[in-house]
Amino acid sequence: MTHPGGALTRAPRTPRARRYLLCRPTHFAVEYAINPWMREDADVDTALALRQWEDLVRAYRDHGHTVETVRPAPGLPDMVFAANSAVVVGGRAFGSLFHAPQRRPESHEYEIWFKGAGYDLHRPESPCEGEGDLVPVGRYLLAGTGFRTTRDAHAEVQEFFGRPVISLQLTDPYFYHLDTALFVLDDDLPADGLPADGTSTGGNGAGDAGGAALAYYPEAFSPGSREVLRQLFPDAVLATRDDALAFGLNSVSDGRHVFVAPRATHLIDQLTARGYVPVPVDLSEFHKAGGGIKCCTQELRP
Ligand code: ARG
Repeated sequence: MTHPGGALTRAPRTPRARRYLLCRPTHFAVEYAINPWMREDADVDTALALRQWEDLVRAYRDHGHTVETVRPAPGLPDMVFAANSAVVVGGRAFGSLFHAPQRRPESHEYEIWFKGAGYDLHRPESPCEGEGDLVPVGRYLLAGTGFRTTRDAHAEVQEFFGRPVISLQLTDPYFYHLDTALFVLDDDLPADGLPADGTSTGGNGAGDAGGAALAYYPEAFSPGSREVLRQLFPDAVLATRDDALAFGLNSVSDGRHVFVAPRATHLIDQLTARGYVPVPVDLSEFHKAGGGIKCCTQELRP
């Protein structure tokens, strides 16, 4: 959908420098299948995966962002998906408890990094997969459930951060994490937060000086959750199934540049029309494990 406000007359979008935590894919492989993208006989080109991951790191650094890395541990082929290790807001870190037993030991490896970096990492009591399912936007936290992170964890994360958590029900196994179905384009909210009456204070709309902006694939959500998103983000970019299957919703935005899968062409056109600058980064080898750009990226919010 193209917003009626168009993009051509707006002031340029403003990027904000970010700090990201990534994990080099030294031990990346597809060795088990815990989502519909994974095949135990998947043929992963590890040299290509490494080059693709290095391209992502270079793209972040070239755009002024800081990249930290955690030590990759042998025997943990999914550890490259750093987003699942925690959610960090206001310098406080809420850790992970993986749904799949194969991934549980990752939490300990990341805990070592977080402790070393001076974070007092909270260990959740219920299954919770970090930024895979917990997406901070303004003073809210959007929280996915249905496949991995539980509603008990949503309650725990609300208590921990003291921010309103908005639970969203995921229904399509291909989009098993919230960050495969939705991403934040701009999390700068006006002081009074999200609009209460469903009218936009900006968002993706014309002439906005601030405001949360989101892109999502509506069909990944239950009807009720779709309605919640529609009310909170009336001007959101709505992606097609093809964009979602190309991992287009697994993007990272700094408020201006959107690091995005190159095959999400319809989404890329919409972003351009709204004044964002798409930066295509191809992580096709990681798609074989059900992950993309955002999955590989943990944002350390100060
Ligand atoms: N193979 C991993 C899993 O199924 C992929 C994780 C993708 N991460 C993400 N943030 N969506 O757990």
